[in-house]
Amino acid sequence: MITKPATPARRSRVMHRTLRGDPPPVAVGGEGVWLHGADGQRVLDASGGAAVSCLGHGHPRVIEAIQKQAATLAYAHTSFFTSEPAEALAEELVGHEPGGLANAYFVSGGSEAIEAALKLTRQYFVEIGQPGRGNVIARRQSYHGNTLGALAAGGNAWRRAPFAPLLSHAFSHVSPAFSYREQRDDETEAEFTARLATELEAEFQRLGPDTVAAFVAEPVVGATAGCVPAPAGYFQAVRAVCDRHGALLVLDEVMCGMGRTGTLHAWEQEGIAPDIQTIAKGLGGGYQPIGAVLVSDRVVEPIRRGSGAFQHGHTYLAHPVACAAALAVQHVIRADGLLDQVNRHGALLEQRLTERLGNHRHVGDIRGRGLFRGIELVADRASKAPFDPALKLHARVKAAAFARGLACYPSGGTVDGVRGDHVLLAPPYIISPAEIDLVVDRLGAAIDDALSGVSHQEARS
Ligand SMILES: Cc1ncc(COP(=O)(O)O)c(C=O)c1O
Repeated sequence: MITKPATPARRSRVMHRTLRGDPPPVAVGGEGVWLHGADGQRVLDASGGAAVSCLGHGHPRVIEAIQKQAATLAYAHTSFFTSEPAEALAEELVGHEPGGLANAYFVSGGSEAIEAALKLTRQYFVEIGQPGRGNVIARRQSYHGNTLGALAAGGNAWRRAPFAPLLSHAFSHVSPAFSYREQRDDETEAEFTARLATELEAEFQRLGPDTVAAFVAEPVVGATAGCVPAPAGYFQAVRAVCDRHGALLVLDEVMCGMGRTGTLHAWEQEGIAPDIQTIAKGLGGGYQPIGAVLVSDRVVEPIRRGSGAFQHGHTYLAHPVACAAALAVQHVIRADGLLDQVNRHGALLEQRLTERLGNHRHVGDIRGRGLFRGIELVADRASKAPFDPALKLHARVKAAAFARGLACYPSGGTVDGVRGDHVLLAPPYIISPAEIDLVVDRLGAAIDDALSGVSHQEARS
């Protein structure tokens, strides 16, 4: 029998993420940490979408900057012109050369930033006379974006699988620095770090050290693993491996950067700096699509002296309205002392989550930094066994939370790209203590709602 596909009650011509069922509710406005639906629903935005809306919604200073720039100059192609907001934004970000990063290349989002970082890495080695460096090492359970280069760099099994034939073999993957899942019971943190560094060294040796262009990593892993910081000393150790073999260190701070973890750059907490860094979400705070690649002179100068041009580009590079919005967002973060607030309110969020969920029989780990927190759900705390992926517990939590007026960012595949569930929280930096209480109350209730729909028999994987 041929069954007709279910026709949504409301037809939408937008090709939404989910093609089945009704289209998502219409968002019509927002203020502070709240999003407003067309039906009058008020939703507490506890993840800023996907760790994007760092200033919340409707910020007057950012709106004013966008309006002013749109009225002054909306667009001028970068092959002819630069613009005042692009110059000012670059000055704001790298004028003081943080960690030696002295140049900014502006794109329209995180995946574009990663693509540019990868091509820049490759071009650097071609220009310095090392064209044999064509391999890039990244980590399993990482996410670097959905365009083909970025997806190939990423190490998430589920996201890669359908597109495997299109993904470059230039990328290989080592273990993630994921203490909860990867550190052995008989191992200290220092021994775990040393083991990961040895594995990276072995991967350089397997590929041939002079064939490796870069090691790419998120300082705090976001979407695929749920706010996983590295163990102490890890980034110093991998920096040393890269330096020993002349490879570049590329840090992807698209999600964890621009203040999210309590310092403007997450690498500041690691005692090292990258050669190339990508940023995006917290750069423009969702007010405009924008990403950037921050680059050291070590990389830019040989290209300047060599071919004289980065062989790359997009139509919307350094878009003036996007740069004006990002500049306003960064001014607000600095002027309002929001990094300090991320640290204070991040600690409060951690404390509240621990009080509410720390002894929960299905919460295995609560982790993260600043206002970037992950909660890993497990079927059994002692063995850390995940729930059966077929139950889609993460999707149940998302639906239950939304029904309670909470938008959070749960995902599956936490353990290995297929098994495991976590919830990611990344609220706006302006969130108040009372709103943090509300987030934790609603999330705790939503997790219990979701679990009550999963019988314990089903729960074992
Ligand atoms: C670490 C990281 N890199 C890259 C990306 C891709 O960014 P975009 O979705 O803006 O293309 C993301 C998005 O979640 C991310 O978290």
